[in-house]
Parts: sequence; structure tokens; C-alpha cells
Amino acid sequence: MNHSQGASINPAVNTTDEVIVSAKGLRVYYGDKEALKGIDFSITKLGVTALIGPSGCGKSTFLRTLNRMNDRIPGFRVTGNLIIEGENPYAKGVDLLELRRKVGMVFQKPNPFPKSIYENIAVGPRAHYGIRGSKLDQVVEEALNAAALWDEVKDDYKRKSGLSLSGGQQQRLCIARMLAVNPDIVLMDEPCSALDPISTGRIEELIVSLSQTKTVVIVTHNLQQAERVSSHTAFFMFGELVEAAPTEELFANPQRDATRDYVSGRFG
Ligand SMILES: Nc1ncnc2c1ncn2[C@@H]1O[C@H](COP(=O)(O)OP(=O)(O)O)[C@@H](O)[C@H]1O
Ligand SMILES: [Mg+2]
Repeated sequence: MNHSQGASINPAVNTTDEVIVSAKGLRVYYGDKEALKGIDFSITKLGVTALIGPSGCGKSTFLRTLNRMNDRIPGFRVTGNLIIEGENPYAKGVDLLELRRKVGMVFQKPNPFPKSIYENIAVGPRAHYGIRGSKLDQVVEEALNAAALWDEVKDDYKRKSGLSLSGGQQQRLCIARMLAVNPDIVLMDEPCSALDPISTGRIEELIVSLSQTKTVVIVTHNLQQAERVSSHTAFFMFGELVEAAPTEELFANPQRDATRDYVSGRFG
């Protein structure tokens, strides 16, 4: 198999051995439906972990369980053990806002607020840290820079609506909005699936650069994308974690037949 495309970005991905997310026997139910059937999985600090697997296998459920985005779904229930940065996000007394600040999320479809580009980004640091005035301007500019959007919007970002941007720019705006509150963990659920190849390439570069300082977990149905951007890959099927390994290993030498079939395109 040819991994040269993956190799072009992968060496830039920085990883550590320090566990930042640890799931043990994690089960998630939607009513009677068991969507995650006892997941044992650790994610180490920094780098990019890709979650792959056929549609409906529980990738989004796993991701959304990490920052409690499933809480409001009727019938949602979680059991087992989940520790994020030393704390159980489902423990009594957990501050949801603080959890969402530490664990940021970007969705499949860019979802800017119908406000100026500036205001889209300013709202988080203002609410979380009480930042105002010229300091806020600085934080917004830094976030736009970090999301590789500054050069394209710097002339009119205080007036121009976030909704007037292209799809790819909107997604970078959503990334900037998330970065402005300085999360440690960045969750991305198929962040490029609504984007053209050029925008996708820019987001992929961004993912790799973010992973130098943040722990990125990305759901993707695009196996080439997983190879290009991730340091580790986890293959889910039918609500179970079938196999997780360093990305090159998982693609070159899968240990399970189901993984082999999936990564060779015979299934899913
Ligand atoms: N809001 C929901 N209510 C009920 N069942 C759901 C809900 N969201 C997902 N599911 C079910 O949970 C399983 C896992 O879904 P999901 O995590 O979205 O998978 P993936 O992201 O891998 O496509 C699927 O069987 C799906 O139908
Ligand atoms: Mg999904």
C-alpha cells in the first residue's frame, strides 16, 4: 500500500505518552439502543487521533460523549468509566461550561452565529474570561491567525457577517471561535465533509499544526484523511472499538480481519 501521502504530513504530528482521555467499559444508550458497547480506549496528550468506521458504528456518539453534547438527547445514558484530564465529566457538580471550554468541538456543518466575524470569536473569551477592549481585539486576532483566516478577513472582520464567508472560511471561523477560549482538547466530527478539496487541505494543515499544542480527536469517513493527519487511529464497528494503533501500523498491518477489510475498502 502507498502511504506516501500520509507521510507528507504525519511527521509533523507531535505525540506524548501522557493519557488525557481514558474510557473503561464505556457504554452509551439512547433509550434501549446500546450505541457504545463497553469501550476501553485511551487517548494520549497532543497529536491527532482519528476515529474511523462504518456509518452508525458510534464514532459521533463517542466524540460527543466526551464533552457531554449528548446530554439533551432523550433516553441518553452513559455507564462505565470516563476520565478526562483527571476528572469524570459526568461526576456530580461538574461545570458544563468549563468542560466545554476545556474540550472544544467543531461540527460537520460550519455553524457561525449570524453576527460579525469579530463577534463570533469575541463571545467566548468575553464570557469565559471577562476579556474586554483592546485585549479582546488581540485575542480575536490571534484566534483568526491560529485558524489561518486572518489574512483573508483582516480588512473588514469587524463589520462583515460570519455567514457571508465561504464554507471553508466558515469552518475556519468556527475553529477560530473554539481556539479563542484555549481548549486543551479539540473534537472534530467530520469537519471537512461539507468542504471542497482545497478548503479540506487547508483544514487538514490546520489540524496538524493545532496538534502541536492540543489533543485533537477527529471523526472522518475519509481513510486517506485519517492517514494524512492522524498519529493514532481507532476503528469502530457496531458500537465496539475493534482496534486502535498508531496510524501507520493500523493501515499497514491491521491485527483484526474486520479492520483489514475496512481499511482495504472491502467493507463500509
Ligand atoms: N439522537 C439519537 N437517538 C437515537 N439513536 C441515535 C441517536 N444518535 C445516534 N443514534 C444511534 O446510535 C448509533 C451510533 O450512531 P453515531 O454515533 O451517530 O454513529 P456514527 O457517527 O459512527 O455514524 C446508531 O445506531 C444511531 O442510529
Ligand atoms: Mg457521525
